[in-house]
Order: sequence, then C-alpha cells, then structure tokens
Amino acid sequence: MNNFTFQNPTKLVFGKGSIAQLPKEISKKAKVMLTFGGGSVKNNGVYSQVIAALEGYNLVEFWGIEPNPKVETLRKAVELGKAEKVDFILAVGGGSTLDGTKLIAAAIPYAGDAWELVLNPKLIKTAVPFASVMTLPATGSEMNSGAVISNVATKEKFAFHAHFPQFAVLDPEVTYSLPPYQIACGIADTFVHVMEQYLTSPGQSLLMDRWAEGILKTLTEIAPEIDENPQDYDLMSTYMLCATMALNGFIAMGVPQDWATHMIGHELTALHGLTHGESLAIVLPATMTVLSEQKKDKILQYGERIFGITKGSDGLRVAEIIARTEAFFRSLGLHTRLSELNIGEETIAEIERRFDERGVKFGECQNVNGAVARAILECCL
Ligand code: NZQ
Ligand code: ZN
Repeated sequence: MNNFTFQNPTKLVFGKGSIAQLPKEISKKAKVMLTFGGGSVKNNGVYSQVIAALEGYNLVEFWGIEPNPKVETLRKAVELGKAEKVDFILAVGGGSTLDGTKLIAAAIPYAGDAWELVLNPKLIKTAVPFASVMTLPATGSEMNSGAVISNVATKEKFAFHAHFPQFAVLDPEVTYSLPPYQIACGIADTFVHVMEQYLTSPGQSLLMDRWAEGILKTLTEIAPEIDENPQDYDLMSTYMLCATMALNGFIAMGVPQDWATHMIGHELTALHGLTHGESLAIVLPATMTVLSEQKKDKILQYGERIFGITKGSDGLRVAEIIARTEAFFRSLGLHTRLSELNIGEETIAEIERRFDERGVKFGECQNVNGAVARAILECCL
C-alpha cells in the first residue's frame, strides 16, 4: 500500500425531508446565491422545498447551468456573485450545477478569467464557501473537490480540483423524478468511478479491494431493481450512497488509480456532447480489452468476485468478463459502441492529435498516450 494523506471535510445530511435542515447549516447572516440547472427542480418540488427552508434569508438566484457546464455560462454567474457580494453559494441540482458552482466559488474572489483557474488550479487561493442539495446520484461531486468544465469556444472539457463542499443534502426522494436515461448514466458513472480506482494491479490493499467490490456488486444488484421500482426509497438511498462513496476518496486510500477511460470520455463529450455516463460505458470495455495484459490479474479477480466467472483459461475468462461488463451497461439501456452514434475515424484522429499535442500519459502505468487512446477508441467502434 502506498503512503497517503486523507481528509474529507464534507458533512453529509442524508434522508427524507433533509432539505428542511438547511438553516442548521447556513448562517442566517449570509447572503446566499442559489445556483440551478435548467429547471428540473421547479418541476419536482425541490425548488419550493429549498425556498421554504431558507425563508428569511437574503437570496440571489442564478439559473441555467447546463449539463457539462460551460465556462461561458459560469462567467455570468461569477459577475452576478461579484456584484451582489455573495458570501455563500448553494448548488441545487445535479453534478453539473455543483461542478459549475465550484468554479463560480473560486472565480468570485479571483481577478482574472474563470477559465484560467480550470487550466491552472494553482491560481485558486480562496473560494466563497459552498454546498449542495444533490438531485442526481452519479458524479460524487457532493463530497469531493473535483469539477469538470467545458469550453464551447475551444471544444475542450477539463477537470480541476480545488475546494470541497461544506455539506451535501442528500434526500433520496428527490431522485424519483429522474428520467430513466439519467439513472442509467448515473449508475454507469458510479460503476466506472470505482473501476478507475480498482482495476489496476492486485495486492495493493485488500481492504480497498473489498470496499470497491462492495460498491460494484451493490450496483449490479440494484440496477435491475431500480429499473422496475425507481421510486423505492431504500433502493434509491442505496444508489445515492453508492455514488457518494465511489468518489469521495474512501476507496482510493493508498492504491494506484487509472482514469484513462474518463479522460477519453471527456474528449468524446467535448467533441460530440455525449452524456458523461454513456461515454464511459462505451470506453471502459475497450480500455479493459486493450490493456488486458497489464490488468489481467485484477480483471480475473473482478470477474470472479462480481460476476462469479471462474471457469476456463485466463484468456477466455478475461474475454467473458469484458463481455459481461459491456452487457451490464447495455442492460442499463446505454450504447456501448461509437458506431451506434456515428462516431468514427475523424474523432479518433482528433483525440489522438490532442493527446499527442498535450503529451499526456494517463493510466496507472502512465502509458495511455495518443497511440494507446487510438487503439482503445478503435476497439469501441
Ligand atoms: O438541468 P436540470 O433541469 O436540473 O436537469 C438535469 C439535467 O438535464 C437533470 N436532473 C438532475 N436532477 C434531476 C434531473 N431531472 C429530474 N429529476 C432530478 N432529480 O439531469 C440532467 C443531467 O444533469 P447533470 O448535472 O449534467 O448530470 P450529472 O450529475 O451526471 O453531472 C454530469 C457532469 O459531472 C461531471 C461530468 O463530466 C459532467 O460534466 N463529472 C463530475 C465529477 C466530479 N465533480 O467529481 C466526476 C465525474 O466523473 C464527472 O466527470
Ligand atoms: Zn465520471
């Protein structure tokens, strides 16, 4: 196990009716900016619950943070936050609303342009404190310091890390209004977050392996049940906690991490607007295939413990395990092939070009460069 430092300061406020607890978490003296997406919270009653809970507070609202939040939109929120001198920000929505809010929070006290902070997070010295009412279990953004921001002008999408949310309100009942496609993408995203921290080399940490496998196994068990009963409180509670636990650092202690699938997925989103979870469902099986020699021992462990695959030669088992992984994503209703979305050589060449130009070396062995990304993408066709 590698040395590590672990600290996660985000408080979780979990359960039915927990939005009503907001006044316990935010000072009455604060001038609060509420940030929202495109309006789902107006239709499902979350907006009215938040407004009722924050009665008597000095509130400013910013609407319109889109999926894959764009810096072009966030700049307007930064201007509003500066003009209004807000001293707390509450993101009410999915991962995009919260990711956008992480940049808004860092850019309000910053004199330059917000995109500079995405490209060079070392410039972030301070941030307006922020928190979230999370309405979509997927990103883990509610309990981590990461955010992924898109730039329309340059067709780029980059992650940065800065501040953690102060708290996260997680009421599983708010997920009842999620469209099935968003649930499918959320489950896929959660699954791949675990895989990025787990599917590297064996023997690093028995405990991290078991925690990771616990989340993976739980997701494969609840996914078909959620499909039948998307308004079952216990199922949605389990799903919501899986998403938070998958990317809050708990399964990453002392182990190597991969993230090549995410980096390639971000390019597909930047170039074609793919929904994040679906981009991962397409790329992960191909990453496993292309790097199957390097990851073989862990793939075999994963296949045995998650899918009960124990028979046959190593090569046959690896192929079956990758096929089962792809079948899991398809069972969610997601595409798993680029050709299904009419994406082909032109995109592969552009991603290879970008990775070569940036000199990237992704993955636990730092060997996913432009050429390896090309091989992975060709395997997604
Ligand atoms: O915008 P509104 O109207 O609110 O609707 C949203 C949006 O259209 C809707 N939605 C959210 N909660 C709902 C709901 N609809 C009905 N009922 C609800 N309860 O769902 C749509 C998608 O929302 P979005 O926030 O974009 O989804 P998600 O939470 O999956 O976030 C995706 C973004 O997070 C980034 C992704 O790259 C992508 O940009 N990620 C962030 C990470 C992080 N911060 O650590 C890690 C991830 O790997 C990921 O990259
Ligand atoms: Zn993700």
